[in-house]
Amino acid sequence: MLELKNISLNVGKDSKDILNDVSFDFDSRKLYVITGPNGGGKSSLAKIIMGIYEPTQGQILFEGEDITNHDITQRAKLGIGYAFQQPPRFKGIKVRDLLKMASGETADYKHMCALLQDVGLCSQDYIDREVDDSLSGGELKRIEIATIMARDLKVAVFDEPEAGIDLWSFQKLAETFKNIHEKHDTTIVIISHQERILNLADEVIVMADGKVKEVTSKENFFADLEREELDCMCGLDCSKGVDKNVELIG
Ligand SMILES: Nc1ncnc2c1ncn2[C@@H]1O[C@H](COP(=O)(O)OP(=O)(O)OP(=O)(O)O)[C@@H](O)[C@H]1O
Ligand SMILES: [Mg+2]
Repeated sequence: MLELKNISLNVGKDSKDILNDVSFDFDSRKLYVITGPNGGGKSSLAKIIMGIYEPTQGQILFEGEDITNHDITQRAKLGIGYAFQQPPRFKGIKVRDLLKMASGETADYKHMCALLQDVGLCSQDYIDREVDDSLSGGELKRIEIATIMARDLKVAVFDEPEAGIDLWSFQKLAETFKNIHEKHDTTIVIISHQERILNLADEVIVMADGKVKEVTSKENFFADLEREELDCMCGLDCSKGVDKNVELIG
């Protein structure tokens, strides 16, 4: 339903290859996890999907329609949403306004509270807070995830939802992703390094050096990872960058 065809992205004077001939076809209703080393091009690919970056080469098709030249607003209207790795703050706007806008004005108080609870925030404490510098990094991140969940999206891309979120809330968040996947038709793409998120994947996409290196099942991914860990005893994280720390509370 979302098709990337030979996508390349170069930036800067030295024409650095950020993405290099990436092709991938996202199916309806599946949950994909994109993982891989830092700087591999994961966020750049998400920004290409959302229309924040324009590809230097290639084509993007959404439900058969060529959306390569669609801007962010047009893609949002088609039902594509993206939760940033580092979400923006909106001074003067309250959490309830943001959730209402995101839901297309349909969310009532009860629904907004449920959305905040899904990301582990006590709704009473947060609904009238401003989305400004007074929110902590983790609170801001969770509120942004709630705004994406408020929308009835066809494709939802979450960029490292774990970033800045404490382990306890993260466990709840992972359950929320699982519930959305089970109950909604949304195609979910989560960029993540966390085992708990990788465990939700229908397909794991490994990106490195601006390329899709591997598309595999979570079972094969973890088996490969274990083999690589055994092969490499240098102590550095030179495999796929997966963080297993979250399992400490499991
Ligand atoms: N606008 C830009 N200008 C110059 N370089 C960029 C730009 N955007 C991304 N890059 C570079 O492209 C590479 C890929 O970046 P990207 O943010 O996509 O990586 P990532 O896989 O999301 O990494 P991480 O796991 O650290 O979030 C990096 O080397 C980054 O510095
Ligand atoms: Mg990134």
